Amino acid sequence: MPVQKIPLVDVKAQYAPLIPELQQRFAQVLEDGQFVLGPNVKAFEKEAAAYLGVPASIGVANGTDALVLVLDAMEIGPGDEVICPSFTFYATAEAIARRGAIPVFAEIDPATYNLDPEDVDRRISARTKAIMPVHLFGRPASLEELARFGIPQIEDAAQAFGAPGTGTTGVASTYSFYPTKNLFGLGDGGLVAVTDEELGERVRMLRFHGSRDKVDFHLVGYNSRLDEVQAAALRVFLPHLAEWNALRREAAERYRELGLGDLVDMPDDDPGHVYHLVVSRHPDRDRIVAALKEAGIGCATYYLPPLHLQPALRYLGYHEGSFPETERLARENFSVPIWAGISAEQQERVVDTVRAAVGSRVA
Ligand SMILES: Cc1ncc(COP(=O)(O)O)c(C=O)c1O
Repeated sequence: MPVQKIPLVDVKAQYAPLIPELQQRFAQVLEDGQFVLGPNVKAFEKEAAAYLGVPASIGVANGTDALVLVLDAMEIGPGDEVICPSFTFYATAEAIARRGAIPVFAEIDPATYNLDPEDVDRRISARTKAIMPVHLFGRPASLEELARFGIPQIEDAAQAFGAPGTGTTGVASTYSFYPTKNLFGLGDGGLVAVTDEELGERVRMLRFHGSRDKVDFHLVGYNSRLDEVQAAALRVFLPHLAEWNALRREAAERYRELGLGDLVDMPDDDPGHVYHLVVSRHPDRDRIVAALKEAGIGCATYYLPPLHLQPALRYLGYHEGSFPETERLARENFSVPIWAGISAEQQERVVDTVRAAVGSRVA
């Protein structure tokens, strides 16, 4: 019998039991015939805000636009600086640069992979308008420590919907519903959650050409709206998110019990971590990645080259060696399969494969 493949993430396993409910909701959308900013978007915005514990949220086209719209609503643009990590998905810094502002990178804490507050402190200048921490791989960044600098925070929470302790410290948090995320849509989608309703009102206008009523256009805005069909699906998924995130945490814990942390450097748990991904590191990660692929097991590596070395951002003037921890992590990290519902047997096979590849314990 051929060996069963194990994907990096099995999104269908999560939504398959919900297909009948999705079909019902989609039938209702067809019945209503309101495809743009219809009742599902309005309801989802309320439900998401309640879930996140913030006064309002605004559905937008994707997680990248969510960042751009917040920066625009804060009037951050040319000459302004925004501090963010270099070890993150490109969209984080791209959104800052898209506004004509300057992404100022800061080093990560190698124990958490998230922004190192001490290095952030060193990079603050008179032009710093915001700090953009990323809750990378689902692990909350050090928001409280960053808050003591008194600079507005925009939380890039694309990978961390519902992570405890996130979403309420910054002026806004942004989310992506790309189909592999913890809370996912069936296509692109995004959300801005705000703690400041006035800022939310500006984002709401900006996503719709700077208008409230399609008559008066107050701002030069965008056309960036969450789709009604996606909102209908998200309303089906949101009530399951707490359970899905709990299952992800259980799966991460099981990787620890199976000994993954003895074979490779697996970061300590954080109670707020919702494990969008389980990312570990090993100096010989290419051997591990090759072994996992050979065994039909999904695995991925992240952010090499890191953002400060990406061709489009070379103009910022960073070079190899600018961020040693970031660069080392980019060379050493790899992820193993995780989703809400991965089985113990699947996880055992993953760890056995890593064990065979590594051969011996890391000191
Ligand atoms: C950290 C981070 N920021 C921003 C984004 C952008 O989200 P989207 O792909 O929905 O534009 C993503 C996801 O892809 C991400 O992982």
